Amino acid sequence: MAYKKEFLAVITFFVIAFVYVDAVNNGLALTPPMGWLTWERFRCNTDCTNDPDNCISENLIKAMADHIVADGYKDVGYEYVCIDDCWPTKERGPDGRLVPDPDRFPSGMKALADYVHGKGLKLGIYEDFGHYTCGGYPGSEFYLKTDAQTFADWGIDLLKFDTCNSNHEDFTYGFPAMEFFLNQTGRPILFSCEWPHGESSSNFSAIRDTCNIWRTGADVQDSWDSVFGIIDFYANNKDNFSYYSGPGGWADPDMLVVGDFGLSYEQERTQFGMWAMFASPLLMSVDLRNIRNESKALLQNKNILAINQDPMGKQATLKMKMEDDNIYVFTRPLTNNRIAAAFVNKNNNGMPTRLTIKGSDVGLSNQNGYNVVDGFTAQSMGSFLPTSDIVVNVNPSGIVLFVATPK
Ligand SMILES: *[C@@H]1O[C@H](CO)[C@@H](O)[C@H](O)[C@H]1NC(C)=O
Ligand SMILES: *[C@@H]1O[C@H](CO)[C@@H](O)[C@H](O)[C@H]1NC(C)=O
Ligand SMILES: *[C@@H]1O[C@H](CO)[C@@H](O)[C@H](O)[C@H]1NC(C)=O
Ligand SMILES: *[C@@H]1O[C@H](CO)[C@@H](O)[C@H](O)[C@H]1NC(C)=O
Repeated sequence: MAYKKEFLAVITFFVIAFVYVDAVNNGLALTPPMGWLTWERFRCNTDCTNDPDNCISENLIKAMADHIVADGYKDVGYEYVCIDDCWPTKERGPDGRLVPDPDRFPSGMKALADYVHGKGLKLGIYEDFGHYTCGGYPGSEFYLKTDAQTFADWGIDLLKFDTCNSNHEDFTYGFPAMEFFLNQTGRPILFSCEWPHGESSSNFSAIRDTCNIWRTGADVQDSWDSVFGIIDFYANNKDNFSYYSGPGGWADPDMLVVGDFGLSYEQERTQFGMWAMFASPLLMSVDLRNIRNESKALLQNKNILAINQDPMGKQATLKMKMEDDNIYVFTRPLTNNRIAAAFVNKNNNGMPTRLTIKGSDVGLSNQNGYNVVDGFTAQSMGSFLPTSDIVVNVNPSGIVLFVATPK
């Protein structure tokens, strides 16, 4: 998989030189990364005076790290605690380095990383390839090498690199250049790219060579329309997401909004189940201090997490649409010749939709048949041959997900 390539990194204003890099080769993200990220839930809230518990600050990150450990999230695999935009001061320091806002991060980033590491977790941070971040903070343009070194010096473990206020033609050079500088620090730093950000002309082969995870579309919002829109986008296999996703590099449909305000419990199951089917990064963005019990249990569902973390890392693809295109049927192969199938109901009104399919419709081809269990509960749904009828009832905006093991 790894091969040498040569590129000339010209970023509008300076020539980096000829550099030689392999495919992203930091040994990270062999299964989809799991963790927590500030953005969807806490945005660019910098008002620690009036809203001290919810502003982007070291206290918020520490509180979430505490809950990830104390409430069982770490035990099931959540690991990266990530800060998104709006953490630095509006100006770089005299040495050209980024400065964490001293009112909100009074202990500094190194101390925060030490705290997070002390809990057995990892710390993620955010920057932008452009002149400014989306929130108007200093971007990495002109400072790629300095910023990579700064993050390594602080003990950062993941960098989310955004694309606001930048020239899209430069991504092809700029993102590999940043990956090169991260590599040069000698610290393995998971590289989370906003490249391609839904641009259909993007070279996914080059993106996979550069990034451990890559965002495929606009920001997720706290709503069914947003979540289903992403499922629909992946269903159409735009830009070959499933072709390029695999150990070391994963298409990223954006954060989980499970436990927030906008989704019903059925819809939360659908997002979580489909993010598992898509072998997506699982980055929660929820207030872990007051999450509903049922949402917490869902995020810690070991049966679904095992699908997400299956070491083969094959992303689900759309098998068919049924019932006037209201039911989407996805399948994904799992290790040991198992098959996971998911039925998603686009409709969010009325009654459950009852479907009958043949085993062979979802790829159950083993002539000896399969034992089939519910993907969420692991309860048996029965034993089926390729020719058997399988009946499922899919709730409005809900999901039925099963795992078939060959006999
Ligand atoms: C840097 O890249 C080299 C060659 O591709 C690789 O062997 C090494 O593990 C990488 N180091 C880090 C810290 O990512
Ligand atoms: C895409 O990137 C790969 C390197 O990862 C390169 O070999 C290939 O030529 C590129 N394709 C196009 C159309 O630029
Ligand atoms: C990628 O997508 C394009 C356009 O949708 C399609 O023509 C091509 O066959 C796809 N390639 C793969 C490997 O899926
Ligand atoms: C949520 O779980 C906690 C501890 O497991 C329990 O004390 C509490 O009563 C539960 N809340 C509800 C609303 O069920």
